[in-house]
Amino acid sequence: MTERLDRVARGWDEAADGYEQYFVPRFAAWVKTAVGAIGGVPDGPVLVPCCGTFPELELLVERFPGRELAGIDLSGGMVRRARERAARLDHPSVQVVQADASSLDARWSGLCAAVVSVFGLQQLPDPEAAIRSWVGALTSGGRMCVVYWPGETEDDGPFALLGKVIGERSDYSWEDRLLADLGEAVIERDELVSYPMTHPDAATYFDAADHAGPMRALALARGDAYIADLRARFVADAPAGEWTHHPRARLIVVRKPLSRAEAARPTS
Ligand SMILES: C[S@@+](CC[C@H](N)C(=O)[O-])C[C@H]1O[C@@H](n2cnc3c(N)ncnc32)[C@H](O)[C@@H]1O
Repeated sequence: MTERLDRVARGWDEAADGYEQYFVPRFAAWVKTAVGAIGGVPDGPVLVPCCGTFPELELLVERFPGRELAGIDLSGGMVRRARERAARLDHPSVQVVQADASSLDARWSGLCAAVVSVFGLQQLPDPEAAIRSWVGALTSGGRMCVVYWPGETEDDGPFALLGKVIGERSDYSWEDRLLADLGEAVIERDELVSYPMTHPDAATYFDAADHAGPMRALALARGDAYIADLRARFVADAPAGEWTHHPRARLIVVRKPLSRAEAARPTS
């Protein structure tokens, strides 16, 4: 594992318990949108790269009873939580694999009815390669539904303010190239999806992002003094009291077409 990947994994290990409590309920509408976008698909397993604590699972079990469902996550802490969720649901064929989801294991290639992933793509070192790998896992007629946080999620609000106080913009040029080079796959949807999200106050949001969210890896890299300075600037610039915003995520739905022979086969 590279040093960067190791830090990402350790960050999410430390964040896992808090993530389930703070972010899972706030991200639920996007999870529902992503799973709902799968629609009708052929037989085959459903993969969930970057599953975290696996909040997609309840919806998938309901939608695909009896199917093989597999979550994949880099973080051991997240995988432990996801396995606890799977055990509670008692679905016969759920597995949670600890692995780098940037490039899926070859055993899934051309086999999967669906690949659904929420809020993981933007964290991967090479999102374009990941998308190609995820589409490569689809069987004919299968669908990939991805929701991720783009470089611009909102004009103001806590996500925008956090980006401003951190002040270093990651390279998001990959967003424009994401859907190039997917071969015969058909892009069915590419849109921004926004829902309201409410935080009790600015400090509570900051502490959740720090201890229970994506900032944990940054905190591990930069240390306590850096985070304390960020926090002070964030709270000073934020509005007082409860804070509701409407961040926009990007939803992408891609379908692998049926082969000519499959398309010509009579359906009854
Ligand atoms: C924001 S959480 C999203 C979890 C879940 N899908 C949800 O919607 O709540 C992002 C997850 O991506 C995982 N992740 C980050 N980089 C990864 C990688 N290279 N391979 C697999 N998982 C990764 C993290 O461990 C974390 O659990």
